[in-house]
Formats: sequence, C-alpha cells, structure tokens
Amino acid sequence: MPSAPHIVIADDQDAVREICTSVATQLGYRSTGVASAREALQVSEQDPPDVLVCDVRLPDMGGVELLKRMKQAWPKLPVLLTTANGTVGMAVEAMKQGAADYLTKPFEVDELRLLLQACVRQAQLDREDRGLRLGSRGPFAAGSLIGNSPAMQRVFRLIGKVAQNRYSVLILGESGTGKEVVARALHYSGPERDRPFLAIDCGALAPTLVESELFGHVKGAFTGAERARTGLLEVADGGTVFLDEIGELPLDLQVKLLRALQEKEVRPVGGSRAIKVDVRIVAATNRDLQAGVANGTFRKDLFFRLNVVSIKLPPLRERVMDIPQLVAHFLERLTPPGVAPRYFSDEAMARMLSYDWPGNVRELENCVERTVALAPGPRLEANDLPSALQQIRPRAAATGAGVGDSSVRAMAEVEKDAILAALQRTNGDKLRAAELLGIGKTTIYRKLKEYAQAAGAHMAVGR
Ligand SMILES: Nc1ncnc2c1ncn2[C@@H]1O[C@H](COP(=O)(O)OP(=O)(O)OP(=O)(O)O)[C@@H](O)[C@H]1O
Ligand SMILES: [Mg+2]
Repeated sequence: MPSAPHIVIADDQDAVREICTSVATQLGYRSTGVASAREALQVSEQDPPDVLVCDVRLPDMGGVELLKRMKQAWPKLPVLLTTANGTVGMAVEAMKQGAADYLTKPFEVDELRLLLQACVRQAQLDREDRGLRLGSRGPFAAGSLIGNSPAMQRVFRLIGKVAQNRYSVLILGESGTGKEVVARALHYSGPERDRPFLAIDCGALAPTLVESELFGHVKGAFTGAERARTGLLEVADGGTVFLDEIGELPLDLQVKLLRALQEKEVRPVGGSRAIKVDVRIVAATNRDLQAGVANGTFRKDLFFRLNVVSIKLPPLRERVMDIPQLVAHFLERLTPPGVAPRYFSDEAMARMLSYDWPGNVRELENCVERTVALAPGPRLEANDLPSALQQIRPRAAATGAGVGDSSVRAMAEVEKDAILAALQRTNGDKLRAAELLGIGKTTIYRKLKEYAQAAGAHMAVGR
C-alpha cells in the first residue's frame, strides 16, 4: 500500500502553516510544516513531498527560487504558491516557472482544500505513470501490470527492452490475458510517452468505419461525411496506434495499412493528398494469424511487417502463481479509503487457484468485483464466489497451503500454493509442473523437499 501523500508546507506565518496542516490532515494526507526554504529542502530530502505549498516570500529564499530547486529534484512536483495581497504579480511569474496554482492570502479553507486535492491527484497520476516505468518490483510492478510468474517477468523484461525503440509489436494471447495493458505499458514506458496512444478495435467497427477512423476522410467523401475527419494514424503522429483484433481487418484494408506503414504516409478517404506520419504500431490478436496467412485471410507481407517483435501472453491457468497477487491488486483497487480491506477465505482462494479461468485475467477481475459487491463482510467465502467457481472441487493441496487472513501474503506462501496447484494440475508430474511454472526442475525438487521437511515425514506431494 502506498503511504498517504506527503505535503510540505513552507510558510513563516504560524497561522497559515496551521491551517494548511489541519486541512491536509482532514483530507487524510501527511504534512510537514516548516518556516524556511532551507528546512523545506531538508525535510524533502528525508521524506520526498508529493505536493509543496509555499509562500512566495520566505525569510531565506524567494518561493520561486525554492520552486526551481525542488523541481530540479522532482520535475513533476505540483507546487501551490501562496501570496499576500500585492504580490500576485510574483505568483503569476511563478506559474510561468511551473507552479501548479496559487492562492491569495487570506484564502478560504474550501479553496485551499480544492487546490490541494487537485495537486495530490496530479501527483498520483504522475506517480502511477512513473510506477509503470520504475516500479519497485521491476519496471511495471506498480499499479498496472501484475505478475511474479517467470512467464510474466519475461514479458516485463521484453516490454522494457522493446519500449525503447519504434519497432512494430504483435501481442498474442487469449481473450482477457492483458494484451491491451501490455500495449499501453509499451507506449507509456517508451521515450514517446508524451505523444498520443490511440486504440482502435478492428473487430468492433464496420470496415468502412475502420478505414475512415484509421486514415481519416475528406468532407463529402461518402454519404454522411459532412465534415472532414483526421485519421488516427495522423492524430497519433509521433506516438502509438494500437490495432486491436488485427485479425479481423478485411483484406483490402490490410493492403492500405501495409502501404501506409511502408510509405509512412496516409491518404484520407476521398482525398488525393498524402500526409506524412510516423507512428509506432502495436497490434493484438487472439487469433492464430499464421493460420490466417496459410488460408489466405491474412496478408503475409502485413504479418511480417507487424510481427517484428511478438509478445505472447500466457493464459492465466499457466501462471497460477500470479493469481494471489492479482487478487490482492484488484481488492486493493476496490477498497475505498477508510474501509476495512476485504480478503478471501482459504477455501475461496483454493478454488480460485484451481479454476481454469477461460476468460483469464478479465474473468478473475470480474470475479473479484462481483464477490466484493455481493458479499456482506470483509471475509469473502467460497460460497460468495460466482457459480462457475462453486462447481469445481478445490485441490486439497492448495487448501492445505493456507492463504492466511490477509490478502497480502509472504511470497514464499504464494510460491508454495502455485507449486502445489501446478502439481495437482499435472497429477503429480514434477517435471511438467516445473515447466508450467517456468522454473527449473532442480528448484521444484528442492522446494518440495523443503515443504516435506517442514510438514514432517509424509506429505502428499512428496510422492
Ligand atoms: N498483468 C495484469 N495485471 C493487472 N491487471 C491485468 C493484467 N492483465 C490483465 N489485467 C486486467 O484484465 C483486464 C483484461 O485485460 P486486457 O483488456 O488487456 O485483455 P485483452 O487481452 O486485451 O483481452 P481481449 O482479447 O478480450 O480484448 C483489464 O481490466 C486489465 O486491466
Ligand atoms: Mg483487448
């Protein structure tokens, strides 16, 4: 759980500091009040701020100067300046230097509250964005992409590498495995993250619409085209276009898309002028495109063009060890601040580890949402789960592993559950279980020995 946002308040007037501190506390933030710029820099070094509130006139340094110094260390830090009457000109100057907003003293508490909330929101957005790139547990751990399984760790490493260049990427995987989140991660962890990321679902739109969405159209190009429209490839110039369900793109549009990619230019429908574009293409499909190429429904040349790098997302049933962490992530997202966190009972978790998840992560997410919405207490029981999970018999091993009374569990336990669940799935075949988990066979033997020792002489899985 990230800790509460930290607000540093630099003002030499005690009363102002007190008001700011009490508003911050009411909003559930942490705050530190200081009377000088020097102290502000000191406390920030120890406990980096999410928002800085400072007076434009501090005893030892101007607020604008402090702002500049702080921004050197934290370029995106939202800074809220306060000014006494008569120094508004300075505040305006500060806005030009990158302050988020300013307040004229004496200010209304409500106004301060609103601005503070807006600044914190901005800081959180930036934090999520940074989390995506620099998350503590690998480049995508924080917030968005979850997965400790070796298979997902490999995917994260690949994203990290590929994001740095502009090659086309083809993302493959069953429905709900996270193709779109990966496409976003590719864009937002790359150098062009400030350029647009635009998605189009080639399967959901009529072919004529796909065409004008992608390439745009001129006024009067067809009945109903009362206004000209700029295509996605042009709007996303410099950024990324995500072509979802690329396997559904009709053959004639495949030709047009290939030409646009090769020539790096688009021609709006009904127009004659070509417009230069430079976009990165990330495409996704849950179909077997190679089979499409073989049977003539997908152009081979376009396939090669899109498939410069491919990222394959394994179905969730092949990375059971990610389930507890994903569940914890979804639970946390569903829990409003101040509400007791929900958790699944051992038996409920055992069922989730045993289920096949044909709808993959999306189905798991829906399952958690549904259960939270319908179950009364903080503890979510097996019979609160959707009916698909009622019918399966949980694996004894997974139940026995014990999920504990918290949604956050030690990694070792998660690992143990995953190993036991995999063994159950492979009917005790250790080599196949190791393969399923993407771990080495020596590792699985070693782990099993550890569990057996911990459990005493006989353990079911020790066969
Ligand atoms: N590794 C992950 N960590 C966190 N959330 C995930 C992960 N993978 C998928 N999700 C969540 O699961 C849901 C489905 O993901 P997404 O839409 O990316 O799947 P998809 O492969 O594009 O599915 P479809 O083929 O049905 O379009 C989303 O809500 C997404 O946020
Ligand atoms: Mg999708």
